[in-house]
Amino acid sequence: MRKKIKLFEAFTGYGGASWGLKKAKIPFEAIGYSEIDKFAIKLYELNNKKVKNFGDITKIEPEKLPDFDFFTGGFPCQTFSSIGKGEGELDPRGTLFYDIIKICEIKKPNFILLENVKGLTTNSHKPTFDKILGELKRIGYNVQWKILNTKDYGIPQNRERIWIFATLKKIPKGWHFEPKKQKLKKFLKNFIDKKPNEEYYLNKKQIERLTEITGVNFNVKEPLCFDRYNKKIKADKICMTLTEPHHNIMRIVEIKKGNNFRVRKITPREHFRLMGFKDEEIDLNGFSYNQLCKCASNGWDVNLVSKIMKNIYSLY
Ligand SMILES: C[S@@+](CC[C@H](N)C(=O)[O-])C[C@H]1O[C@@H](n2cnc3c(N)ncnc32)[C@H](O)[C@@H]1O
Repeated sequence: MRKKIKLFEAFTGYGGASWGLKKAKIPFEAIGYSEIDKFAIKLYELNNKKVKNFGDITKIEPEKLPDFDFFTGGFPCQTFSSIGKGEGELDPRGTLFYDIIKICEIKKPNFILLENVKGLTTNSHKPTFDKILGELKRIGYNVQWKILNTKDYGIPQNRERIWIFATLKKIPKGWHFEPKKQKLKKFLKNFIDKKPNEEYYLNKKQIERLTEITGVNFNVKEPLCFDRYNKKIKADKICMTLTEPHHNIMRIVEIKKGNNFRVRKITPREHFRLMGFKDEEIDLNGFSYNQLCKCASNGWDVNLVSKIMKNIYSLY
């Protein structure tokens, strides 16, 4: 029998790695995590009782960590994102991967799974990306990477992320951590709330104003996503990338009710569904709209992660 995975989950958020393992039904034990956001900690702790938080990763002394064989981390992406300032390593949040290397060089887990925005691989951030791959190789790892999109794995969200997998083991010829793509069968309309609270809807005046500014006709035949930034309704029936609420760039447009157009904010529950959660899996009570939507939009697509985890587990 294969042994239980000992997981250290850095930059934990709601715990995308442990959720992925849980959904894939892979036996594991979370031996510690590292997170500094108090609401992410609260959300994580609801589902992972009695796991020790080692706090700010820059302050961790690797020698003091318990042993683990799997390190995961979706290190902060704002500095590499196309919607951030794009300062990369000039921003202190852009250098946190050095802490990953510092920990893994000493603790030498068998497996590492990292994630960031696709922007990390392009143009000005490419040198940082190459440095990350180079550092992982320097400390003894075999490395694979791939840009994966949530919409290719059953969830109608256009979410491209770079995934980096590293292992001390020899990677068998032809093996890749990338899961097999699947044709999308369910679309945004299948993921939205049946009766969202009226507080999420724009009023008549706000919709008129939005029409005036964007020139968009909100008369839709099925619920679709509206991209405020590009002033377009997404006819592909897929949700645009979820981003933190302060960016305020998306709306859901529903079928007209009588003579009234229906345009609204996306609800927290819809965020979590679009990140791969089933409603019964996670309790969202006790958090504000912003806390939940921030956590979800920064999180890992747990549906995709469960598929990646199954592949990784085949190497154990
Ligand atoms: C992109 S999110 C990762 C989300 C996570 N993968 C999930 O599934 O929800 C990055 C997380 O890193 C945390 N973070 C930022 N700086 C940190 C630090 N110095 N030490 C530990 N965590 C940090 C943030 O609070 C945020 O929750």
